[in-house]
Amino acid sequence: MESNPDELIKAALAVRELAFAPYSNFRVGAAVRSKSGRIYTGCNVESASFGLTVCAERVAIWKAVSEGDTDLTAIAIVTDTEKLTPPCGVCRQIIWEFCGDVPIILANCRGDRDTSTTNELLPRAFDTKFLK
Ligand code: THU
Repeated sequence: MESNPDELIKAALAVRELAFAPYSNFRVGAAVRSKSGRIYTGCNVESASFGLTVCAERVAIWKAVSEGDTDLTAIAIVTDTEKLTPPCGVCRQIIWEFCGDVPIILANCRGDRDTSTTNELLPRAFDTKFLK
C-alpha cells in the first residue's frame, strides 16, 4: 500500500500545471515515490514531431532513475477528465520494469481516485528475465 496517497496525488496535480501539451491539450501529471520517501514528478512533454512526445509517467520515472533512485514504490497519475485516465501501454511496461508491482493511483482534478496495481494493468509482462 502507498503510505500517503494524498501527498502523491497533490504532487501530480501540481506538476500537471507544467504539462507542455500544445498539440493535444491533454495535460497529465505523475508522481512516483521512492523507498527513501522522496517524490519525483513529471508532466507530459509534447514534440512538434508528435511521436517524440513523452508521457508524464516516464518523465517522473526517468527523473528518479537519473538521480540514482531506483527503488520506486508507488505512482500517481492525474488528468482533468471525468473518467480516470490509466497509463498507456508503453508506460505500463516502464512502470513494471522500474517500479515492479506497485500501487498505481489514478486521480482527477475533482477528487475522484482509484488504485490498482501493475500486475492488474499489465499481466504476464515481458522483462529482463526473458532475455537470459
Ligand atoms: N499521456 C501521458 O502523459 N500519459 C499517458 O499514460 C497517456 C498519454 C500524454 C501523451 C500526450 O502528450 C497526451 O497525453 C495525449 O496522448
